[in-house]
Amino acid sequence: MEDMGVTPDAAADWSGRTVFLTGAAGLLGRAVGAQLASEGASVLGFDNAWGHLHPRLRPDGIEIVDGDVRDGPLVATVLHDTAVDTVIHLAAQTLVGPAVGDPVNTFSNNVEGTWTVLEACRGATSVTSIVAASSDKAYGDWSGRPYREDMALRGRHPYDASKAAGDLISQSYAATYQLPVAITRCGNLYGGGDLNWSRVVPGTIRSVLEGSPPVIRSNGMFVRDYLHVSDASLGVLALAREARRRPEIRGEAFNFAAGVRATVLQVVGTILTLMHAPLDPIVLNEELHEIPDQRVSYARARRMLGWHPRQTLDTGLREAIGWYQDNLRLVA
Ligand SMILES: NC(=O)c1ccc[n+]([C@@H]2O[C@H](COP(=O)([O-])OP(=O)(O)OC[C@H]3O[C@@H](n4cnc5c(N)ncnc54)[C@H](O)[C@@H]3O)[C@@H](O)[C@H]2O)c1
Repeated sequence: MEDMGVTPDAAADWSGRTVFLTGAAGLLGRAVGAQLASEGASVLGFDNAWGHLHPRLRPDGIEIVDGDVRDGPLVATVLHDTAVDTVIHLAAQTLVGPAVGDPVNTFSNNVEGTWTVLEACRGATSVTSIVAASSDKAYGDWSGRPYREDMALRGRHPYDASKAAGDLISQSYAATYQLPVAITRCGNLYGGGDLNWSRVVPGTIRSVLEGSPPVIRSNGMFVRDYLHVSDASLGVLALAREARRRPEIRGEAFNFAAGVRATVLQVVGTILTLMHAPLDPIVLNEELHEIPDQRVSYARARRMLGWHPRQTLDTGLREAIGWYQDNLRLVA
């Protein structure tokens, strides 16, 4: 596909729209919901964990809807009754460790959840744009070669395979039913508001704020592309806008990444430096079922969506550290 000359301004399209946002209580969901609400959209924030989130962390201006994405009749009713025009499907069991411990729960949430939402969209005539979240982990292990969207999905471990399955299912709904669905494949997300403490950024910042050394489960040498959640949110919204406007976007996947590789030890070291913390990480060197080296090319998103990352690792980590300094007592 060629560059279609889009403008990078993703903002203009949201006033008056009704958006069904799954996973709205999560890291990316809260960022996307807040951004949409600030741009004038009516947002139905759908999640099965609102009850676990401190009320002050709920994004302003969105309607809270409790529910499970595997509940097809409920999802179909919400889409129909509120004449939703945009569906952004982010809900998933997102943690790699629990996915290894309970693959069935992960496949159920991530695969059945995806087909259930898409099937409801298929029956909803008002829906004109859908974004489904896959992951860079869907590509699996390519020995550090930069992931490009035309590479095969080789996810091997349960979380990775669940995202690859949801990705392919989304592609099939576009190809077979002409559903206007496009797919995101983001690098490792981080930013203020991530309450998944087993992830390296929130886990490390919380340890430092509590005065204890951060614990690294791996050998610290896994390489990831760390993308700030605000950049991922802009990417999701740009893709939702373009999936509505441009049929050639439908069924297509887009990588979103910062374009910077860092080891876990480097990220932890940067956080310790920014927080002026005289602590040494504890490296457990456990065997983890994870891809050792991930690199992500976002060339296609830049070319076709006009998207590029705005945060550096330094500015993004400063934002995250500030958030936990202000809010840790609410969420720890
Ligand atoms: N965090 C990352 O590094 C990353 C990277 C690439 C892709 N992704 C994908 O982006 C999306 C958002 O990730 P995140 O970091 O915000 O995750 P998160 O874990 O912070 O949020 C996910 C949300 O989905 C909700 N959820 C899970 N199962 C549900 C169900 N059956 N019904 C309703 N709600 C359910 C959870 O309660 C949670 O609020 C996910 O699809 C994830 O796979 C995340």
